[in-house]
Amino acid sequence: MKMLVAYFSNTGNTEKLAEAIHEELVRRGHAVEVEKIRPAIAYSWLREVARDFPRYPSITLSLFSNAWKRHHVRTYNQVEEDIQALKYPDISEFDRICVGGPKWAQMSYPVARYLQTIRGIRGKKIGAFCTFGGPPLAVFEIELIFEPMRTLIERMGAQMVAQVCVSSAYHAAGLMPLFRMASRMRFKRPVTDFMLASEYGKNGVLNFCDEIEK
Ligand SMILES: Cc1cc2nc3c(=O)[nH]c(=O)nc-3n(C[C@H](O)[C@H](O)[C@H](O)COP(=O)(O)O)c2cc1C
Repeated sequence: MKMLVAYFSNTGNTEKLAEAIHEELVRRGHAVEVEKIRPAIAYSWLREVARDFPRYPSITLSLFSNAWKRHHVRTYNQVEEDIQALKYPDISEFDRICVGGPKWAQMSYPVARYLQTIRGIRGKKIGAFCTFGGPPLAVFEIELIFEPMRTLIERMGAQMVAQVCVSSAYHAAGLMPLFRMASRMRFKRPVTDFMLASEYGKNGVLNFCDEIEK
Protein backbone atom coordinates (compact mmCIF):
# COMPACT_ATOMS: atom_id res chain seq x y z
CA MET A 1 0.00 0.00 0.00
CA LYS A 2 0.99 3.63 -0.44
CA MET A 3 1.25 5.28 2.97
CA LEU A 4 2.12 8.68 4.43
CA VAL A 5 3.69 9.24 7.84
CA ALA A 6 3.08 12.88 8.82
CA TYR A 7 4.34 14.19 12.13
CA PHE A 8 5.20 17.25 14.18
CA SER A 9 8.01 17.01 16.73
CA ASN A 10 9.38 19.94 18.66
CA THR A 11 12.15 18.25 20.63
CA GLY A 12 12.72 15.07 18.60
CA ASN A 13 10.85 12.43 20.62
CA THR A 14 7.84 12.00 18.34
CA GLU A 15 10.25 12.01 15.41
CA LYS A 16 11.82 8.80 16.77
CA LEU A 17 8.37 7.20 17.04
CA ALA A 18 7.56 8.33 13.48
CA GLU A 19 10.83 6.78 12.27
CA ALA A 20 10.05 3.49 14.03
CA ILE A 21 6.60 3.36 12.38
CA HIS A 22 8.12 4.30 9.01
CA GLU A 23 10.78 1.56 9.28
CA GLU A 24 8.27 -1.10 10.26
CA LEU A 25 5.87 -0.22 7.44
CA VAL A 26 8.72 -0.26 4.89
CA ARG A 27 9.89 -3.61 6.31
CA ARG A 28 6.38 -4.92 5.61
CA GLY A 29 6.71 -3.91 1.95
CA HIS A 30 4.71 -0.66 1.86
CA ALA A 31 5.71 2.44 -0.10
CA VAL A 32 5.99 5.09 2.61
CA GLU A 33 6.47 8.86 2.21
CA VAL A 34 7.18 11.22 5.10
CA GLU A 35 5.77 14.68 5.82
CA LYS A 36 7.43 16.66 8.59
CA ILE A 37 4.92 19.23 9.86
CA ARG A 38 6.78 22.45 10.64
CA PRO A 39 5.24 25.37 12.54
CA ALA A 40 5.47 28.71 10.77
CA ILE A 41 7.22 30.16 13.82
CA ALA A 42 8.94 28.06 16.50
CA TYR A 43 7.79 29.43 19.86
CA SER A 44 9.12 28.56 23.32
CA TRP A 45 7.33 25.89 25.39
CA LEU A 46 6.33 28.65 27.82
CA ARG A 47 4.37 30.49 25.17
CA GLU A 48 2.75 27.25 23.99
CA VAL A 49 1.66 26.33 27.53
CA ALA A 50 0.41 29.86 28.17
CA ARG A 51 -1.95 29.74 25.18
CA ASP A 52 -3.78 26.75 26.63
CA PHE A 53 -3.29 27.43 30.33
CA PRO A 54 -6.82 28.75 31.07
CA ARG A 55 -8.16 25.30 30.17
CA TYR A 56 -5.87 23.34 32.49
CA PRO A 57 -8.28 23.45 35.48
CA SER A 58 -10.93 21.81 33.28
CA ILE A 59 -8.44 19.09 32.33
CA THR A 60 -7.67 18.48 36.00
CA LEU A 61 -11.39 18.14 36.78
CA SER A 62 -11.62 15.52 34.01
CA LEU A 63 -9.42 13.25 36.11
CA PHE A 64 -12.08 13.08 38.80
CA SER A 65 -15.32 12.96 36.85
CA ASN A 66 -16.18 11.03 33.70
CA ALA A 67 -19.17 13.29 33.07
CA TRP A 68 -16.91 16.33 33.22
CA LYS A 69 -14.33 14.66 30.96
CA ARG A 70 -17.01 14.05 28.31
CA HIS A 71 -18.16 17.66 28.64
CA HIS A 72 -14.55 18.91 28.48
CA VAL A 73 -13.67 16.91 25.35
CA ARG A 74 -16.93 17.97 23.66
CA THR A 75 -16.49 21.67 24.37
CA TYR A 76 -12.70 22.05 24.37
CA ASN A 77 -11.50 24.77 22.05
CA GLN A 78 -8.43 23.22 20.43
CA VAL A 79 -5.55 25.67 20.04
CA GLU A 80 -4.01 25.69 16.56
CA GLU A 81 -0.85 27.06 15.07
CA ASP A 82 0.16 28.16 11.58
CA ILE A 83 2.28 25.64 9.71
CA GLN A 84 4.71 25.90 6.81
CA ALA A 85 3.78 24.80 3.29
CA LEU A 86 3.36 21.03 3.04
CA LYS A 87 5.16 18.61 0.73
CA TYR A 88 1.88 16.68 0.35
CA PRO A 89 -0.98 19.18 0.77
CA ASP A 90 -3.27 16.72 -1.04
CA ILE A 91 -3.20 13.21 0.43
CA SER A 92 -5.65 11.62 -2.04
CA GLU A 93 -2.93 9.42 -3.55
CA PHE A 94 -2.26 7.60 -0.23
CA ASP A 95 -4.12 4.48 0.95
CA ARG A 96 -3.30 5.09 4.62
CA ILE A 97 -2.15 8.13 6.62
CA CYS A 98 -0.31 8.02 9.96
CA VAL A 99 -0.45 11.35 11.82
CA GLY A 100 1.43 12.09 15.03
CA GLY A 101 2.73 14.70 17.42
CA PRO A 102 3.46 15.33 21.07
CA LYS A 103 0.66 15.65 23.61
CA TRP A 104 0.29 19.32 24.46
CA ALA A 105 -2.47 18.93 27.03
CA GLN A 106 -4.46 17.55 24.07
CA MET A 107 -3.44 17.66 20.41
CA SER A 108 -0.35 19.72 19.65
CA TYR A 109 -1.34 22.90 17.86
CA PRO A 110 0.46 22.28 14.52
CA VAL A 111 -1.14 18.81 14.23
CA ALA A 112 -4.60 20.31 14.82
CA ARG A 113 -3.95 22.75 11.98
CA TYR A 114 -2.48 20.02 9.72
CA LEU A 115 -5.59 17.83 9.92
CA GLN A 116 -7.74 20.76 8.83
CA THR A 117 -5.36 21.92 6.09
CA ILE A 118 -4.75 18.79 4.04
CA ARG A 119 -7.01 18.04 1.13
CA GLY A 120 -8.31 14.60 0.16
CA ILE A 121 -8.72 13.34 3.73
CA ARG A 122 -12.41 12.38 3.30
CA GLY A 123 -12.88 8.60 3.45
CA LYS A 124 -9.27 7.89 4.46
CA LYS A 125 -8.15 5.45 7.16
CA ILE A 126 -5.89 7.28 9.64
CA GLY A 127 -3.53 5.99 12.32
CA ALA A 128 -2.76 8.40 15.18
CA PHE A 129 0.44 8.34 17.22
CA CYS A 130 1.89 10.50 19.97
CA THR A 131 4.49 10.84 22.69
CA PHE A 132 4.01 12.41 26.11
CA GLY A 133 6.22 12.95 29.10
CA GLY A 134 4.23 10.84 31.55
CA PRO A 135 3.28 7.16 31.76
CA PRO A 136 0.28 5.95 29.68
CA LEU A 137 -2.44 7.06 32.10
CA ALA A 138 -5.77 6.02 30.57
CA VAL A 139 -7.60 9.33 30.95
CA PHE A 140 -5.04 12.09 31.49
CA GLU A 141 -2.71 11.00 28.70
CA ILE A 142 -4.36 8.57 26.28
CA GLU A 143 -7.99 9.74 26.18
CA LEU A 144 -7.16 13.42 26.34
CA ILE A 145 -5.17 13.23 23.15
CA PHE A 146 -6.82 10.47 21.14
CA GLU A 147 -10.47 11.38 21.80
CA PRO A 148 -10.13 14.93 20.40
CA MET A 149 -8.02 13.54 17.53
CA ARG A 150 -10.69 10.97 16.71
CA THR A 151 -13.40 13.64 16.87
CA LEU A 152 -11.49 15.95 14.53
CA ILE A 153 -10.57 13.15 12.12
CA GLU A 154 -14.23 12.06 11.95
CA ARG A 155 -15.34 15.66 11.48
CA MET A 156 -13.04 15.81 8.45
CA GLY A 157 -14.83 12.74 7.05
CA ALA A 158 -12.06 10.21 7.78
CA GLN A 159 -11.76 7.29 10.18
CA MET A 160 -9.22 6.68 12.94
CA VAL A 161 -8.30 2.99 12.75
CA ALA A 162 -5.10 2.71 14.82
CA GLN A 163 -3.37 4.45 17.68
CA VAL A 164 -0.08 4.18 19.53
CA CYS A 165 1.45 6.33 22.25
CA VAL A 166 4.73 6.04 24.12
CA SER A 167 6.34 8.03 26.88
CA SER A 168 9.36 10.17 26.10
CA ALA A 169 10.07 10.61 29.83
CA TYR A 170 10.77 14.21 28.93
CA HIS A 171 8.88 17.39 29.77
CA ALA A 172 10.28 20.77 28.78
CA ALA A 173 8.57 22.42 31.76
CA GLY A 174 10.32 20.14 34.27
CA LEU A 175 7.26 18.09 35.28
CA MET A 176 9.06 14.74 35.16
CA PRO A 177 9.34 14.27 38.96
CA LEU A 178 5.53 14.40 39.07
CA PHE A 179 5.16 11.95 36.19
CA ARG A 180 7.76 9.57 37.65
CA MET A 181 5.76 9.51 40.88
CA ALA A 182 2.49 8.98 38.98
CA SER A 183 4.06 6.03 37.13
CA ARG A 184 5.19 4.39 40.38
CA MET A 185 1.81 4.97 42.01
CA ARG A 186 -0.39 3.88 39.10
CA PHE A 187 1.70 1.13 37.45
CA LYS A 188 4.32 0.28 40.12
CA ARG A 189 6.83 0.63 37.28
CA PRO A 190 9.23 3.38 36.20
CA VAL A 191 8.07 5.65 33.39
CA THR A 192 11.03 4.38 31.30
CA ASP A 193 9.13 1.06 30.98
CA PHE A 194 6.77 2.86 28.60
CA MET A 195 9.33 4.41 26.26
CA LEU A 196 9.79 3.51 22.58
CA ALA A 197 12.68 1.10 23.27
CA SER A 198 10.66 -0.87 25.89
CA GLU A 199 8.52 -3.96 25.26
CA TYR A 200 5.50 -1.67 25.65
CA GLY A 201 6.83 0.66 22.95
CA LYS A 202 7.93 -2.05 20.51
CA ASN A 203 4.64 -3.96 20.80
CA GLY A 204 2.75 -0.70 20.45
CA VAL A 205 4.42 0.01 17.09
CA LEU A 206 3.80 -3.55 15.84
CA ASN A 207 0.12 -3.47 16.85
CA PHE A 208 -0.27 -0.03 15.28
CA CYS A 209 1.15 -1.33 11.97
CA ASP A 210 -1.11 -4.43 12.14
CA GLU A 211 -4.16 -2.21 12.57
CA ILE A 212 -3.27 0.35 9.90
CA GLU A 213 -2.59 -2.45 7.37
CA LYS A 214 -6.11 -3.92 7.71
C1 LIG B 1 2.81 22.91 25.68
C2 LIG B 1 3.16 21.53 26.17
C3 LIG B 1 2.18 20.76 26.80
C4 LIG B 1 2.49 19.46 27.22
N1 LIG B 1 1.50 18.71 27.79
C5 LIG B 1 1.80 17.46 28.24
C6 LIG B 1 0.80 16.65 28.85
O1 LIG B 1 -0.37 17.04 28.97
N2 LIG B 1 1.16 15.41 29.31
C7 LIG B 1 2.44 14.95 29.19
O2 LIG B 1 2.72 13.84 29.64
N3 LIG B 1 3.40 15.67 28.57
C8 LIG B 1 3.11 16.90 28.10
N4 LIG B 1 4.08 17.63 27.47
C9 LIG B 1 5.38 17.00 27.21
C10 LIG B 1 5.48 16.48 25.77
O3 LIG B 1 4.30 15.82 25.39
C11 LIG B 1 6.64 15.47 25.63
O4 LIG B 1 7.83 16.06 26.06
C12 LIG B 1 6.77 14.99 24.18
O5 LIG B 1 7.43 13.76 24.15
C13 LIG B 1 7.52 15.99 23.31
O6 LIG B 1 7.55 15.50 21.99
P1 LIG B 1 8.57 16.06 20.90
O7 LIG B 1 9.97 15.83 21.44
O8 LIG B 1 8.31 15.25 19.69
O9 LIG B 1 8.27 17.51 20.71
C14 LIG B 1 3.80 18.94 27.05
C15 LIG B 1 4.78 19.74 26.44
C16 LIG B 1 4.47 21.02 26.01
C17 LIG B 1 5.55 21.84 25.35
